[in-house]
Amino acid sequence: MSFLCLDKVNCRRDGICMEVCPGGVITADAEGYPVVKDGAEAFCNKCGHCVAACATGALSHERLPMIDFLPNRKPRPETVAEVEPLMLGRRSVRAYKNKPVEHALLERILDVARRAPTAVNSQQVGWVMVEDPAKTRRLAELGMEWLRAAGHPRYVQLWDEGREVFLRGAPHVAVAHAPADYTWGAADCAIALTYMELAAAAHGLGACWAGLLTRAAMAHAGVIEALELPQGRTVHGALMLGWPKYRYSLVPPRNAANATWL
Ligand SMILES: Cc1cc2nc3c(=O)[nH]c(=O)nc-3n(C[C@H](O)[C@H](O)[C@H](O)COP(=O)(O)O)c2cc1C
Repeated sequence: MSFLCLDKVNCRRDGICMEVCPGGVITADAEGYPVVKDGAEAFCNKCGHCVAACATGALSHERLPMIDFLPNRKPRPETVAEVEPLMLGRRSVRAYKNKPVEHALLERILDVARRAPTAVNSQQVGWVMVEDPAKTRRLAELGMEWLRAAGHPRYVQLWDEGREVFLRGAPHVAVAHAPADYTWGAADCAIALTYMELAAAAHGLGACWAGLLTRAAMAHAGVIEALELPQGRTVHGALMLGWPKYRYSLVPPRNAANATWL
């Protein structure tokens, strides 16, 4: 049974849907129209490329409602002029305003992150969005318990002097997790968090990777409990989030790319 619906009037029989399908699921029938290959149905990973790449809108996919597809803007020179400075200008923000981020904005950056690439389009990244600043503070306290035991004299000293070095006083934290036995969990979570960080920067929000929290969430029962982490899931990364207190006027230098060109 086919899950593709074709509008033959609009189909140009150009083969684009067949070419972009990662699993080679689509073939041409005797007249050149796309059909699902016999026995290949199970190899469709619901990436939606066949529908999204069709220039005439002739194809739809039974399992991917058309209403869930978004329009896709063509790249323009202005896009480069906007995106590169955004990517270069984002910084690890470690000073936050005492002002929570609106729920709708947290939802919005999560909505970008959920669309990040995942291996075989498996979409197994899960999130704990710590929205309540008191809960974020509690996570930092629990995390410091772990750090004290793990032995980090410098951060312990700073914490004891009153500096919140664990989550930098951020009001919120987004924690990405994946099934413990999933090969690509770390990669998928890191990509999704990177999407979220850039989306946050685009809205003027501050973010910082929370590596300490990530390690604590792998090792400290109190942190795992406070995160209410579902069974069988591993935390692979987290982002502090909040309104930045300061604006950076310069992009700091970094090493030259360590690349070999073949
Ligand atoms: C995986 C990862 C974990 C990190 N963990 C922390 C952290 O726990 N606390 C912190 O203040 N910064 C953390 N950072 C931020 C780095 O220190 C920061 O990216 C680096 O110093 C470069 O600064 P920039 O991000 O502003 O370019 C982390 C970054 C990454 C990529």
